[in-house]
Amino acid sequence: MLLAPSILAADFAHLEAQTASALAAGADWIHVDVMDGLFVPNLSMGANVVRALRPLADRTGALLDVHLMIERPERYVEQFIQEGADLVTVHVEATPHLHRTLELIRKTGARVGVTLNPATPLAHLEEVLSLVDLALIMSVNPGFGGQAYIPSSTDKIRRLKQMIVQSGSSARIEVDGGVTSANVGEVVAAGADVVVAGSAVFKGDVAANVRALKAAADVQHLA
Ligand code: DX5
Ligand code: ZN
Repeated sequence: MLLAPSILAADFAHLEAQTASALAAGADWIHVDVMDGLFVPNLSMGANVVRALRPLADRTGALLDVHLMIERPERYVEQFIQEGADLVTVHVEATPHLHRTLELIRKTGARVGVTLNPATPLAHLEEVLSLVDLALIMSVNPGFGGQAYIPSSTDKIRRLKQMIVQSGSSARIEVDGGVTSANVGEVVAAGADVVVAGSAVFKGDVAANVRALKAAADVQHLA
């Protein structure tokens, strides 16, 4: 399992140091949650934060994973990639031109991700699974960190895994929202390759939290 700490839960006054601690303790990616106050009822950060973290990503080899929770993401995809995003994930609910938007991400030079809100059926991925490197299952309603994992997400992850195997796609599965060391095992067993965690990484001792999440995922893997 790859661990992608969501910096939304970090102390922004010490953003680089906190992110570096998570990576040093074994985290793999840097998950950047971008919110526009329209697609989701909250504002967070923009491409300037991606630019600020790019040198850390270069030093550590961590992938900069940008999750766009914004209306009409096609307006900003190129800007985020120019500022250093390695992977850009967009919501199927946020644009009427999903196919074109996914192609734009690829053409601009980043890995391509697509995601679904909890209420959106997996069927919305059928026509685009072959175009993406990553499919993200939202296990909370996007907009805020620190929410509880929606239990039905586990079955959705399992069904997505089947869809991917059956279609011969090589897309990885990422899961985002409410993941803790108590449920990460279940999430990984269901098929997640990449797990996002915000509060479970940045509240308290960052290095200890990362090790606990990794250990909990490993136990499940061996079981
Ligand atoms: C939700 C964001 C998530 C969230 C994760 O809108 O996309 O990445 O911040 O935070 P936790 O792990 O605290 O649910
Ligand atoms: Zn996210």
